Amino acid sequence: MDGIGEPTVPHQHPTDRMTITADLPISNTQVADSIASAVSEGLVSRRKWLPAWLFYDDEGSRLFDRITELPEYYLTRTERSILAARAGTIVGEAAQGELLRVVELGAGSADKTRLLLAAATARQGTVLYEPVDVSASALAEAKERIESEIPGVQVAPRVLDYTQGFELDPAVPGERRLVLYIGSSIGNFEPVEAARLLEGVYAGLAPGDTLLLGTDLVKDEATLLAAYNDAAGVTAAFNKNMLTRLNRELDADFDLDAFAHRAVWNTVHSRIEMHLESRIDQTVRLAVLDLDVDFAMGETIHTENSYKYLPGRPQAMIGAAGFSPIACWTDEQKRFAVSLGRVE
Ligand code: AVJ
Repeated sequence: MDGIGEPTVPHQHPTDRMTITADLPISNTQVADSIASAVSEGLVSRRKWLPAWLFYDDEGSRLFDRITELPEYYLTRTERSILAARAGTIVGEAAQGELLRVVELGAGSADKTRLLLAAATARQGTVLYEPVDVSASALAEAKERIESEIPGVQVAPRVLDYTQGFELDPAVPGERRLVLYIGSSIGNFEPVEAARLLEGVYAGLAPGDTLLLGTDLVKDEATLLAAYNDAAGVTAAFNKNMLTRLNRELDADFDLDAFAHRAVWNTVHSRIEMHLESRIDQTVRLAVLDLDVDFAMGETIHTENSYKYLPGRPQAMIGAAGFSPIACWTDEQKRFAVSLGRVE
């Protein structure tokens, strides 16, 4: 839809997004409240927007899993190849001859996490794995799956919102934590907010502990756009699923055919933006909020930012949070980076 350079859609005000991710819900009742407040704030803004966490209901999580397998979506497979090549080195660097405990922000990214857990068990026989997530059900699923699939891994889930700071039980003396924040999840956050999140992680760790950060890198625009606008339309379905969710949970009457999926590269902010563009002039009713929202033809709802980093930025980010940058591994095409930092 757009040419090279400036996006056709204006970016949202960064403070909007900050308010919302800070309100990431932790329980089901809070989810309902958070949806109501996020939607009533975002859809009455001059530039309409909705928070990216709204993607991940059951159907959205299924669609995201399908995205990770798309030919155009290079992120997951590239990060996996880096971890496959470096798992032994990463675990060795993190452990420094001590016992390692693995923490993951998010409920476990299946076979990517498995590569590291397998390397840890190969080293030390058994490993304690602490996935941290706001969703108790996602954690229960991860525990079940990982304990049955990787012998030697003991899963101790933690239900907490890691965007709100970071508190873990003190590690046992002689034990080091390796915190995984992979999958380029950090890319959903505004730079200021991402910095705050990493500072929060740093504050919750002890000397000797490490952070492994997975980040997507800036690359040619065609490759970036294809990853968020796949030929099979899975990303479009993922984006529109947000409207299906509002129809169900807020008794709204979004007509999915009256909105189009848009992915644009915002050069200035170094991010892919996803939007839902109104194909016509229309009014949508959200009965639960007693709210009517007018859309002009071509007007969009900004649903996600996915930041892409220049080489050196990921290490600079972990350095700014307090960590000593230890190493940064990339694939041959420099599409994705996995960086390790240590608390000194
Ligand atoms: C899960 C945030 C890493 O930004 O690439 C995939 C989410 N959005 N396709 C990303 C997503 C559209 C994904 N992250």
